[in-house]
Amino acid sequence: MTGPKFAQRVLDIEISGIRKMFEAAGSDAINLGLGQPDFETPEHIKQAAIDAINEGFTAYTYGAGIQELREAVSSKFKRENNFSVSPDEVIVTSGASEALEIAIASLAGPGDEVMVANPCFVSYNALAGIMGGKVSSIPLADDLSIRPEDVVERITPKTKAFILNSPANPTGAVQSKSDMKAFAEIADDHNIALISDEVYEHFIYEGEHVSPASYSDNVITVNALSKTYSMTGWRLGYVAARSEYTEQMIKVHQYVQACANSIAQKAAVAALNGPMEPVIRMRDEFRQRRDILVKGLNSLGLECDLPKGAFYAFPRVRDSAEFAGTLISNGVIVVPGTAFGDRGEGYVRFSYATSRENIKRALQIMEDIL
Ligand SMILES: Cc1ncc(COP(=O)(O)O)c(C=O)c1O
Repeated sequence: MTGPKFAQRVLDIEISGIRKMFEAAGSDAINLGLGQPDFETPEHIKQAAIDAINEGFTAYTYGAGIQELREAVSSKFKRENNFSVSPDEVIVTSGASEALEIAIASLAGPGDEVMVANPCFVSYNALAGIMGGKVSSIPLADDLSIRPEDVVERITPKTKAFILNSPANPTGAVQSKSDMKAFAEIADDHNIALISDEVYEHFIYEGEHVSPASYSDNVITVNALSKTYSMTGWRLGYVAARSEYTEQMIKVHQYVQACANSIAQKAAVAALNGPMEPVIRMRDEFRQRRDILVKGLNSLGLECDLPKGAFYAFPRVRDSAEFAGTLISNGVIVVPGTAFGDRGEGYVRFSYATSRENIKRALQIMEDIL
């Protein structure tokens, strides 16, 4: 008997290397593998969701998202990111994941190329592959940032998009303002779309976040409430671009998602229009954890620059899989750099989205075994 006839482009995708790490570890392991804040969603946001349920706000919404929320997103971009999009140029999605999916689907088909950093967030390669596209890898500089000249060099007539992620997963690198301007100019000069994934924008400890959309209207800005407000499970994100782009993305969104979760949309209005103190408190805590972790790694002889953003440290190691395997078998979950691309060999990702106590315990275990 023959098996089901699966699509080759799906057979070609590998299950995320991060998931493999969790499955390999015991249930009492210290988890420095997870990319999600370990804080409670702020109270006023939870209350808005409870009110939405009690008021019966439980039906499908307008596909692109409720007007109130698209207005809140439009104001947020003006206030925090220094660019203007009208509420009509915003699509509310199921997390940044769906925003990335509809952006990539609208641009890349069979044979098209999507440029991504190597290493980069795991979804970029997989999504480009699902659409039938091909990934063109941009190697990172010694400080783990992307150099504009390395992007230009890899543009071909088939290049449709360049995905940029600053602050970056898995490296914690933050691109400079002049780099962001250069990336925006590249998008304009070569007529390619720049997909800017800004989910870690509020977790920057040195430097500042600059949105490339403030320099070019060939930018598709992807963001979510997931990391900023500790709302990973709420599945609420958004994407904004000029209408030429959103008109194509909304078609994909309509058929794969219909609309984002109605209750989470009401909660998102409270988050975006509400106080930023809870986010600032999280950022300050992450900074302290980063300092403890990186100082500890350096004192164990691991080479690791202080990451400027996100909540990941990406130290150099001799062999990624061997190093991660040794730690996992001693009860500390980390992710080998190769889970994020072949050029991640020689690195391991540590997430510091866990308590200081866990970080100190993990460092102690490493001191005992390394
Ligand atoms: C860079 C980056 N983009 C997007 C996502 C997905 O975010 P969401 O949970 O909002 O789908 C993640 C999650 O880890 C991420 O690290």
